[in-house]
Amino acid sequence: VTKTITKIKPTMFGLFFEDINFAADGGLYAEMIKNRSFEFDKPLMGWEQPNTKRSSLNMNSGVATPIKALENKNNTNFCRILVNDPKGYEIINEGFRGMGVKKDAKYYLSLKAANHNGAIKKIIIQFIDKDKKVIGETSIVPTSDEWKNYSAQFIATQTEAKAKLKITFEGTGTIDLDMISVFPEDTWKNRKNGLRKDIVQLLYDMKPGFLRFPGGCIVEGRTLADRYQWKKSVGEVENRRTMINRWNVEFSHKQTPDYFQSFGLGFFEYFQLSEDIGATPLPILSCGMACQYNTGELAPIEELDPYVQDALDLIEFANGSVNTVWGKLRSDMGHPQPFNLKFIGVGNEQWGPAYIERFVVFEKAIKAKYPNITIVSGSGPSPNGEFFDFGMQELNKLNAELIDEHYYESPKWFRENASRYDKYDRKGPKIFAGEYAAQSVSGANPNNRNNWECAFSEAAFMTGLERNAEVVNMTSYAPLMAHEEAWQWTPDMIWFNNLTAFGSANYYVQQLFSTNKGTDLLAITKNGKAVIGENDLYASAVKDVDKKEVIIKLVNTSAEAQEVEIDLKNAKLASKGSVITMTSPNLQDENTFGEPKKISPKETEYKLKGKKAVLNLQPFSVTVLKLKMV
Ligand code: AHR
Repeated sequence: VTKTITKIKPTMFGLFFEDINFAADGGLYAEMIKNRSFEFDKPLMGWEQPNTKRSSLNMNSGVATPIKALENKNNTNFCRILVNDPKGYEIINEGFRGMGVKKDAKYYLSLKAANHNGAIKKIIIQFIDKDKKVIGETSIVPTSDEWKNYSAQFIATQTEAKAKLKITFEGTGTIDLDMISVFPEDTWKNRKNGLRKDIVQLLYDMKPGFLRFPGGCIVEGRTLADRYQWKKSVGEVENRRTMINRWNVEFSHKQTPDYFQSFGLGFFEYFQLSEDIGATPLPILSCGMACQYNTGELAPIEELDPYVQDALDLIEFANGSVNTVWGKLRSDMGHPQPFNLKFIGVGNEQWGPAYIERFVVFEKAIKAKYPNITIVSGSGPSPNGEFFDFGMQELNKLNAELIDEHYYESPKWFRENASRYDKYDRKGPKIFAGEYAAQSVSGANPNNRNNWECAFSEAAFMTGLERNAEVVNMTSYAPLMAHEEAWQWTPDMIWFNNLTAFGSANYYVQQLFSTNKGTDLLAITKNGKAVIGENDLYASAVKDVDKKEVIIKLVNTSAEAQEVEIDLKNAKLASKGSVITMTSPNLQDENTFGEPKKISPKETEYKLKGKKAVLNLQPFSVTVLKLKMV
């Protein structure tokens, strides 16, 4: 019973991050100011001027005007403020659907200003609540005619999910402003330009084997010009050029015209995050094909060089010595040690002959320079169908190392496809199930829920991923997270608002598998056959040679309780262990902001009956039995 079938890769269960659903700006990235450097296509988007009426300019107390100055091609715009009224003029930033501020927490403000002839005597910065009451205040005295950086701190006096930042100018005349930024002090590891601590904690608690970034379709862009270019996401934050997010508007049940990428969370920060949460970094780069759901624009093969060079340079950025160009930049950004990159993805969800043609160009160049880097290739959007079959055949012929598959299907599909990988060639390419999630109804809409049926159906399917660990080396649920008020895709593993975040039932299923992945696959059978849905039961088993444990996962997808007896044969096991159960009575049940852990694992002690484990599996339940080896 404890004989190893195959080793389980440490990367087996990981995370897929994409800046969709306000996951980066407005989410994980803790910046509170939307459009901080006036670079959105409408440069004053996110900024209110409550006492300016453009129709009667002469009577205005002041006016804010965006100005384009081309000296810095990555951060062209700034805001010119003309103050007419000595009693004060104000601008207000609305944040990302408001700003979440917490009572007694400290906030850091920074901005750049050029104060023409010392006209403005003081800038007062305040958090205001939804009734415009001041709930935190600081000020700056702008001392220079030239551009100069200023900073200040303040403490919030009240908790408020929908705060805004009000900036009032004292004195009359003109002042120029740029890079107006507010971060909480309490970021993950208290870093400047940091990440939201509560969200990173949820990622950390998953003990993920890898972190795939930065997407998703966002890698591709609607046009090639809009693709994610990692080199534009590193270096000084103010020199990272803001651009429209690929998820701005499209596919959205609510339009999100204010969805842009500041790249404050860029590739350095993704590598650092991977390191912080113990995950192997897995960057995915453009392969010279724009999103095939949009323009499908192609870079001609003879013009692929810059794309391929980006991949080679990224490997140098991650792993190169500080004496290399890109390794030096990593070091200058605060990380002289390499990030130990082992994987790189070529293209996201691409398909057809155009993909294969481009993939081989990348593969040749990457392997020539970095033979030890494992390359992840794409297989297109669907688990079945013409494009997928074509891609798989071609990639098989090319002996591809790791193929990324994506599927968003019904809960029933997940239950019925738990044997999906049983038929995959053990000697063929390895599989990265890089995006999958059960959809309670199809499409991105409010009825497509993270409900319990979806979660336990994924668990049933995941026993199949685990049973096939010989072929399946990496897996990740998608998408990872969503802002309650600004999402474009459902369901999502983690939900957040401006103050809190919670894991869905799907999150806890992922966590159960990830934290109990073991090191070696074992067999668990009924009448000599794998347990794949007969009587609505699914099972897989592993051992962990480091923790000296046998771990058995059982999923009961039936509405009835089921008693199971597991014959542990002659395994030498301690009589006491533990059993972790996740269950909920109704298929539609889900976790919410109000009840964030309604469906989550509960652990109790377990006693063996001789050489047998007897368990009464609750209706609709996921059970993990852990027994110590002696
Ligand atoms: O996860 C959401 C989207 O689904 C990803 O961006 C894309 O790869 C897939 O189509």
